[in-house]
Amino acid sequence: MSQFDINLQRFPKSSPFGEHIEDDPVFDPARHLELTRPENLLTLSELGYGAEIDGTSPTDVAATSAFRILSDEGAELMLHVCQQLEAFTTSNARIAKNCRGGTYRSKFLRDFSLSLDVAEHLSSIMKTPLLPHGMGHQLSHLNYAPPEVGEDVDKWHYDTLQVDYVMFVTDPKKVVGGEFQYFLGTRDEMQALYESKQPLPAERVVVPEIPGPGFAVLMQGNYVVHQAKGLRDKGERITLVNGYNYADQSTPDYTALKQLVLADPENLATAEYIRHIALRCVSNLETAINEPGYKNDKAVQLQKLYDARRELDAGISQLEDSSVEEMKHFGN
Ligand SMILES: [Fe+2]
Repeated sequence: MSQFDINLQRFPKSSPFGEHIEDDPVFDPARHLELTRPENLLTLSELGYGAEIDGTSPTDVAATSAFRILSDEGAELMLHVCQQLEAFTTSNARIAKNCRGGTYRSKFLRDFSLSLDVAEHLSSIMKTPLLPHGMGHQLSHLNYAPPEVGEDVDKWHYDTLQVDYVMFVTDPKKVVGGEFQYFLGTRDEMQALYESKQPLPAERVVVPEIPGPGFAVLMQGNYVVHQAKGLRDKGERITLVNGYNYADQSTPDYTALKQLVLADPENLATAEYIRHIALRCVSNLETAINEPGYKNDKAVQLQKLYDARRELDAGISQLEDSSVEEMKHFGN
C-alpha cells in the first residue's frame, strides 16, 4: 500500500534545470567537513534591536566571528565545483555575478548544503535548531567577483531569509580587497544613514577576519545588514551563502518573496516558496498524524490545525499580493 507511505523529501525529486556540471565529486562529510566553533558571538541587542522584533526570532545570536566548515580537501573540491557553476551565473540589480540554484546542478553542492552534520553544528552555535532551507535557490547561493575590478560584489543589504552563513570558497588572503563586512546597527539605522546620504562611520563597520577558504560567518541575515566589497586588483573571489530555516515553528516564517522574484524567474520562486510553506505546514501537522493527542482537550488538538492554517494563510496572502517591489539595498 505504497500510497499510504508518507515520505517527505528535504530536497525535491524534480529539478527546474536539465544541465549539470560535468565533473561532480562525491561529498564525503567525514573527509570534507572540519567543523570548528567561532570565538565570538554578537547579539541582536548589541546591534541595537529591542522589543520591536520580539517573537520574530528564537535566538539572540546575530552574527559570529569566522569559523571553519570545510577541510582543506573539502575546500579544494568546493572550488572545483563552483568554478564549473560559473557557467550558470546571472546578475540582478544588487549583484553583478551570482549563481543561484547550483544545488540542482551539482550533487556535491546539494549534499553539502543539506548536510545535517553542518545543520546540527550551526544549531548549537545559534542556540536553536536549524534546518537546511526548503527552497533550493536559498541553498548555496554563489557570488563571483564582477568582471570589472573595483566593482562591489554586493551592495549593503539584508537577506530574504532568516539564517545563513557566508563562506569563502576562494582564499581571501590571495586577493586584494573583496572583504565581507557588516554594519554594527539595525536595519532602520542603516536606512536613516542611507537616506541622509551620510557616509558610514568606519567604527560601525565590522570586517571579520577570514583565515582561509572553507571559513564562514554565520548570521541572522535578515537583521544583520552586510556587504561584499569588490576586488581592488585582478583575482578570483567566490563566496557561498547557504540558507537555513528555524525548526521552531512558533517563530513566524520570513521569506521576502517579492525580492526573490527579482533574482529568480517568478514561476520558479513561486514553486519553491509553495514547497517551503507546505513543509512548514506539514511540520505542524506531523504530531497530529503520528502521535494524535488522544487525551488532550479539544482546544489543544484543534490548535494543530490552526497552526497549519496560519502557515497556509501567510503563504497564500504573500502569493496573492500583486504589488511589485524594487530590489532593496542601501547602495555601496
Ligand atoms: Fe546577503
